[in-house]
Amino acid sequence: MMYSKEFAKVLYEALEERVTMDHLEPFIEKPKHLERGDLAFPCFSLAKTERKSPQLIAQEVSQKINSPLFEKVEAAGGYLNVFLNKQEVTAQVLEEILQKKQNFGASNSGKRRTVAIDMSSPNIAKPFSMGHLRSTVIGQSLALLLAQCGYKPVKINHLGDWGTQFGKLITAYKHWGNEEKVKANPIKELLALYVKFHEEAEKNVRLEAEGREWFKRLEDGDEEAAKLWKWFRAESLKDFSRIYKLLNIDFDSYAGEAFYNDKMDHVVDLLESRGLLTESEQAQVVSLEEEDLPPCLIKKSDGATLYATRDLAAALYRKETYNFEKALYVVGGEQSLHFKQLKAVLKKLGFDWADDLVHVSFGMMRKDGKKMSTRKGQVVLLEEVLQESIALAKENIELKNPNLPNKEEVARQVGVGAIVFNDLKNYRMNDIDFSLEDILRFEGETGPYVQYTHARACSILRKAAWDGEKEMPIQLSGEQEWEVIGLLMAFPETIKKAAAAFDPSRVAKHIIDLAQAFNKYYAEVKVLQEDEQKESRLAFVSAVTQVLRKGLSLLGIEAPDEM
Ligand code: ARG
Repeated sequence: MMYSKEFAKVLYEALEERVTMDHLEPFIEKPKHLERGDLAFPCFSLAKTERKSPQLIAQEVSQKINSPLFEKVEAAGGYLNVFLNKQEVTAQVLEEILQKKQNFGASNSGKRRTVAIDMSSPNIAKPFSMGHLRSTVIGQSLALLLAQCGYKPVKINHLGDWGTQFGKLITAYKHWGNEEKVKANPIKELLALYVKFHEEAEKNVRLEAEGREWFKRLEDGDEEAAKLWKWFRAESLKDFSRIYKLLNIDFDSYAGEAFYNDKMDHVVDLLESRGLLTESEQAQVVSLEEEDLPPCLIKKSDGATLYATRDLAAALYRKETYNFEKALYVVGGEQSLHFKQLKAVLKKLGFDWADDLVHVSFGMMRKDGKKMSTRKGQVVLLEEVLQESIALAKENIELKNPNLPNKEEVARQVGVGAIVFNDLKNYRMNDIDFSLEDILRFEGETGPYVQYTHARACSILRKAAWDGEKEMPIQLSGEQEWEVIGLLMAFPETIKKAAAAFDPSRVAKHIIDLAQAFNKYYAEVKVLQEDEQKESRLAFVSAVTQVLRKGLSLLGIEAPDEM
């Protein structure tokens, strides 16, 4: 909390240095009710060392405190409650925000250490699913939050671009494929081929064997197989990159599963040399009995390596390449067993840094009570969902603000922002309901609501032709502004906590609260009234726009100045 350091210092002096600062500052709390003050210190453990009642301690200390920052210090029920000097604090907080602008809340605690973030990671030749969208937006926000705290995030798209399915796909393409069709609509067409393969395979048993053969050829480096695989991959990526462009997201690495082809032998050798491989039903596995986990499959009977083998190779490669402090895997909860096994095997290999791997798990997206899935029949094409959201946002703009310049761009920012916000405002482990109509509302806890509040604040500044660069003393009592000021000054702490808990929803909730508090203020106070405080009120509005914009940007959402 801002000002807890100041409070601790004053306490330290009042206690005549009998207790050290680290026994003071960490215990300072924020009272649940505003009428209890802005900061509180519980005197209970202090009472023990001082051999006095907490009430008495609080009483004594409260009389010794005297600081221009604190308006009032109260002893109540063994607590010391501090009321900040609203006028002084309001001026300080606003000056800090206006000076630091988009750097307000940034810190250096990460010391440029690297955090690898495995995120998005869709599967080639398959549609980009809701799960992949969740991984993409959560991963993106974590990268932004960590960067804000001084870490160096590395965003890795671990593409699902290898596996027996490519043998099937090549088989299907050889039988029924059409180059033009694939080019025109890669994901749809490749998916159709894949589905057709399975339908036909029920009638024709030879197809499965053909699929295996093609995969074998692919693994052995056969030219034709490799060429087709490369082409499927490139076409799929073209489709995916349209989604990434809509979301305004890029990656530091696209090293997917295939990238580790030449690194698999090393993993298998390593496991072998440590005597960790055992045979089970003709496959090579690492037994994890002691860890109370099912065995981890390393190699199938035909010699093919598996998903887990690739993740082992990837973990080793990433440790060596990035020397990460933490490696996050932003992947749905269905894979939690996989990541437990991955860590357990690395541990068995003697790598202590296995503890730095974190499965940043998340719940599923539901529509009408059912999982939004991409299985046969009910394919939800994510790009279509995004486009629909953008179209609805556009309709709304046409209705409310038909003369808005660059409508297309704003519609994209709002339509996409709505989907991203809906995802990130919920704690990631919770399942989420998806209703385009609800998430696009301008009222309630939505992305458009926060964007709209920001745009409205911007329009106040435009109307007043406010020149943000001008320096001037802030002259506000802070009485009416106090709720907003409290949220502004708590914002840096929220960023830190969100980054530490890998939980962007804290930022989302914070800016919803801020938007609500500001709208309440705006309904009560005439900001543009010509009086001595007008300039100060504009400075206040400007600080609010800075923090709303910053909060949105940390979620990966853009903030149009007008909408
Ligand atoms: N491609 C996988 C899927 O769609 C997700 C990969 C997650 N990352 C990883 N390193 N395993 O299920």
